[in-house]
Amino acid sequence: MASVTFEKVRKVYDNHHLAVDGVSFTVGDGELMVLVGPSGCGKSTTLRMLAGLESVTDGSIRIDDLVVNDIPSKDRDVAMVFQNYALYPHMTVFNNMAFGLKLRKYSKAEIKQRVGQAAEILGITDILDRKPKQLSGGQQQRVAVGRAIVRKPKVFLFDEPLSNLDAKLRVQMRTELARLHRELNATMVYVTHDQTEAMTLGDRIVVMNEGVIQQIDDPVTLYKCPKNRFVAGFIGSPGMNFVNGSLEVLDGIIRFVSRKRDMHLRIPLKSTAVQDGSPVILGFRPENIKLTSNTHDHSAGGILEAEVIFEEHLGAESYVYGKTPSTTFMARMAGTSDLGIGALLQFELDLHHIHLFDAKTGETVSAETVGNRNSLDY
Ligand SMILES: Nc1ncnc2c1ncn2[C@@H]1O[C@H](COP(=O)(O)OP(=O)(O)OP(=O)(O)O)[C@@H](O)[C@H]1O
Ligand SMILES: [Mg+2]
Repeated sequence: MASVTFEKVRKVYDNHHLAVDGVSFTVGDGELMVLVGPSGCGKSTTLRMLAGLESVTDGSIRIDDLVVNDIPSKDRDVAMVFQNYALYPHMTVFNNMAFGLKLRKYSKAEIKQRVGQAAEILGITDILDRKPKQLSGGQQQRVAVGRAIVRKPKVFLFDEPLSNLDAKLRVQMRTELARLHRELNATMVYVTHDQTEAMTLGDRIVVMNEGVIQQIDDPVTLYKCPKNRFVAGFIGSPGMNFVNGSLEVLDGIIRFVSRKRDMHLRIPLKSTAVQDGSPVILGFRPENIKLTSNTHDHSAGGILEAEVIFEEHLGAESYVYGKTPSTTFMARMAGTSDLGIGALLQFELDLHHIHLFDAKTGETVSAETVGNRNSLDY
């Protein structure tokens, strides 16, 4: 196994299309690092540069201490699993898995042993004689993973390996990949646009947007302390609610006032360094707002009056959409809500679980600029 280091890596396609703009990160030995971001943000390009399938325009990529920029793909000792599996249709499962080893002139006995062991790990020993077209999507996916395992590469690379599977199988394969990662103790880089997959699989996650890394952290830190509005909105499902407004400081007390001035929330921050009138975006997650019958203290608490405009029932929980003059938000409620569309109700926002973002830069308003940020943390 090995570590991987990207240092200020850029990729420009066709001399003008900037796909990856100076990314730097390290994947530790045995770590499963997920690259996540919206379509076109440069995830596959980043992975393909590591695999040696795309050239690097600038910067360097190292596997352990070796700069691999100019090393051909076949000599990098990485194995990649693609979204479309890329199995050879005319070969049996055994031969698909053995192919790379045969090319590298391994002995028959060694090939048999490695394929057998990988098939065992993946639970596909009974389909080794079949051809790919005789397999389900999940089985084909296992064969593709098996083909990578037999190589015992330094680094495993996955590019959206589960997106062709149905939802249930995807969850099952996700669990299997997590188990595989534990069993093999392998260094893995995993690309997906699905934040749930990223959150459940990654030891750490690199969040990308438009070719630029937005944040690198473990899943819980990303969820609790997003560095900017993009990460806050991208991580978490259902997503964070946002309200535009400004911070107002009066007698040392900071309030968030929404654009239409219907929300006045007292923010538990020190007033130092806050500029009166700074435009900000307030963010709160659907689980941090709930129904309340407490209507008396509008100035201090996070009480909002909202009209119920929609309800979604998922069985164990419900999503309730509320509308205020300034915003529409979603509240996540346990069990089955039956509030009735059009009902005018009081909601209470947990002010210790809110996020504030600079409206201009999108950056999280942090301790340095607004005093005691800890009071906002979980
Ligand atoms: N071979 C290529 N030539 C020119 N531009 C390319 C090439 N491959 C990718 N791009 C462009 O580079 C950008 C990043 O593409 P990339 O495939 O890395 O995105 P991605 O994050 O993997 O997206 P997706 O989630 O859709 O797979 C996109 O704007 C894409 O159009
Ligand atoms: Mg891609």
